[in-house]
Amino acid sequence: MIRLQINGTSHDVDAADDTPLLWVLRDHLDMTGTKFGCGIAQCGACTVHVDGRATRSCVTPAAAVQGRAVTTIEGLGEGVTHAVQKAWAEHVVPQCGYCQSGQIMAAIAMLQSIPDPTDDQIDAVMSGNLCRCGTYPRIRAAIKDAAAAIRNDSQH
Ligand code: FES
Ligand code: FES
Repeated sequence: MIRLQINGTSHDVDAADDTPLLWVLRDHLDMTGTKFGCGIAQCGACTVHVDGRATRSCVTPAAAVQGRAVTTIEGLGEGVTHAVQKAWAEHVVPQCGYCQSGQIMAAIAMLQSIPDPTDDQIDAVMSGNLCRCGTYPRIRAAIKDAAAAIRNDSQH
């Protein structure tokens, strides 16, 4: 039995210790917002937060994150999250949408550690999240708007 803290709730899951977190989320807990893309840590579709850090759930054994705080796209809250979601909507970022859960999770984790990223920093951090629809320019613009909105909010 694996005990996980996901989006602030404790879950006991009957899965083998080496089961990837991605499959525990999707198959055991029916949290399908986190997507499977490559399964080998190359595309970012499966990105979640573990203790606030962007983490590839497809290559993370579920047992390895026991006792740590896992956040999925379903568990996003206020603050940085809200600014990112608003900017994503304003820039109409998603096309097919498949990669976007991972993109948003990666963007939020970046803005929590780099509040005012340069284009180069955005490209460096986000380059691990692939988008077959080529939404990269919109993602970059949305991240910059979200960063500006967060800075404005913190000044009031
Ligand atoms: S599915 Fe995990 S990085 Fe591609
Ligand atoms: S929006 Fe289609 S893969 Fe990114």
